[in-house]
Amino acid sequence: MTGGSRGIGRAIVERFEELGARVIAPSHAELDLRDAAAVEAYAAALEDPIDILVNDAGANPLATFDQVSDAQLAEVLALNLLAPFRLCRALAPGMAQRGYGRIVNISSIWSLVAKPGRAAYAVSKSGLNGLTRSLAVEFAAQNVLVNAIAPGFIATEMTYRNNSPDEVAALVRQLPAGRLGTPEEIAEVVAFFASSRNAFTTGQVIVCDGGYTCL
Ligand SMILES: NC(=O)c1ccc[n+]([C@@H]2O[C@H](COP(=O)([O-])OP(=O)(O)OC[C@H]3O[C@@H](n4cnc5c(N)ncnc54)[C@H](OP(=O)(O)O)[C@@H]3O)[C@@H](O)[C@H]2O)c1
Repeated sequence: MTGGSRGIGRAIVERFEELGARVIAPSHAELDLRDAAAVEAYAAALEDPIDILVNDAGANPLATFDQVSDAQLAEVLALNLLAPFRLCRALAPGMAQRGYGRIVNISSIWSLVAKPGRAAYAVSKSGLNGLTRSLAVEFAAQNVLVNAIAPGFIATEMTYRNNSPDEVAALVRQLPAGRLGTPEEIAEVVAFFASSRNAFTTGQVIVCDGGYTCL
C-alpha cells in the first residue's frame, strides 16, 4: 500500500496488521510515487504475490484555478492518479491470474462535489474514480474487485493544512455528523472492501463524509 506513514494510510496499515495481513508500505523516501520509472521498478521487484493494493498516498495543494501551474498540475496528477494507475497496471494482472484480488483507491468527496481552490486535486481524484470503474469491469470475472473510498473531512495533517482553525470549526458546525471523521473510521471501510467479505461490490465510489455531501 502507499501513504502508510501517517494520516489515513497509517490507520489502514494498523487495521490491516490487526487483521493479520502482512503489509508492504514503502515510505516516501523509499519510493517517490511521482517518479514513473521508480514505481514501475518497485512493482516489478516485488517477490511475493500481492492480493490487496491500497492506493492512499495523495496531496492536495490549494490554488485558485487561474493560479494552477503546469508543474503543480503534473505533480498532483503524477501522485494522485498516475501512480495508482501504474501500480494497478503492474499488480492487477497477477491478481487476475490467481483468481483473487482487492484494490481500494482512496479518492475524495472533491471527486464528486467542488470547492474553490481544489481543481487539480478534483481532476486527479475524478480520474481515480474512472480508473476504479475501468479496472472493475476488466477484472470482475477474475474476482479482482476494485472500489474507491471518498472521504470527507478527516482529522489529518492534510485537513489542518488546508483549513484554518476557524474554517475547521465552521465545517464541524456544518457537518451533519457534528465532527470530523477519524482515520480509523476510514480504515475500517477500507478493510471491508479490501477483504473477501466484499464479494460482489466493484467499481463503486463509497462516500464516507459524515453526511457532508447530502446537504
Ligand atoms: N484528510 C482528509 O480529510 C482527506 C479527505 C479526502 C481524501 N483524502 C485522501 O486520503 C489520502 C490520505 O490523506 P491523509 O489526509 O492521510 O494525507 P497526509 O496525512 O497528508 O498523508 C499523505 C501520505 O502520502 C504520502 N506521500 C505524499 N507524497 C508522496 C510521494 N511523492 N511519494 C510517496 N508518498 C507520498 C505521505 O508520505 P510522507 O509522510 O513520507 O510524506 C503520507 O504517507 C490522500 O489520497 C488524500 O487525498 C484525505
